[in-house]
Amino acid sequence: MNFYEIACNRQSCRSYDAERPIEQEKLNAILETARLAPSACNGQPYHITVCRGETAKAVAKATQGMGINKFAPDAPVLLVISEMPYVKSAALGAKLKGNDYRSMDIGILAAYITAEATAQGLGSCILGWLDDGKIREVCHLDGAVRLVITLGYAKDDKLRTKKRKAMDELVTEL
Ligand SMILES: Cc1cc2nc3c(=O)[nH]c(=O)nc-3n(C[C@H](O)[C@H](O)[C@H](O)COP(=O)(O)O)c2cc1C
Repeated sequence: MNFYEIACNRQSCRSYDAERPIEQEKLNAILETARLAPSACNGQPYHITVCRGETAKAVAKATQGMGINKFAPDAPVLLVISEMPYVKSAALGAKLKGNDYRSMDIGILAAYITAEATAQGLGSCILGWLDDGKIREVCHLDGAVRLVITLGYAKDDKLRTKKRKAMDELVTEL
């Protein structure tokens, strides 16, 4: 798949085959692609915690509430993305320019992870509805948890029609 094909095929998976584990080679490929993601000053101010089994279940529970993310416990693997300190140059840039580079870096990381998951034939969903304190406790993390990404084989991998802004609403050419 070229990148456009990956972008067309990636969609948030909210129904996983709980009985089908992810092959270690596929998970390794996702993590290796994640390692290559760009970041401000190449600082990679984040950490990825791979959760399986009971840990995954506990993290999944901490992404639920008000009927949201009910599907998360069925995903065999959850990746917890937490913050790490900025490198000095990125910290200075963020302060001087008032720009939150770390959140951008984590967003790019998530895009790389979900794109590679798609290339590996896996479903994924980025979760931002989460209980930071609970997940930090479960995963023994100091840094704030910003995202959780569910990974697994989709029960139903039928592609939905993508709803997106029209090009002229999204883009201005001057
Ligand atoms: C930062 C972020 C947080 C998100 N949080 C959740 C979430 O907690 N639960 C969920 O089901 N989807 C979540 N999503 C998925 C979005 O709803 C989804 O990407 C968007 O509706 C577009 O649909 P698609 O991913 O199927 O193309 C999140 C996506 C992003 C980028």
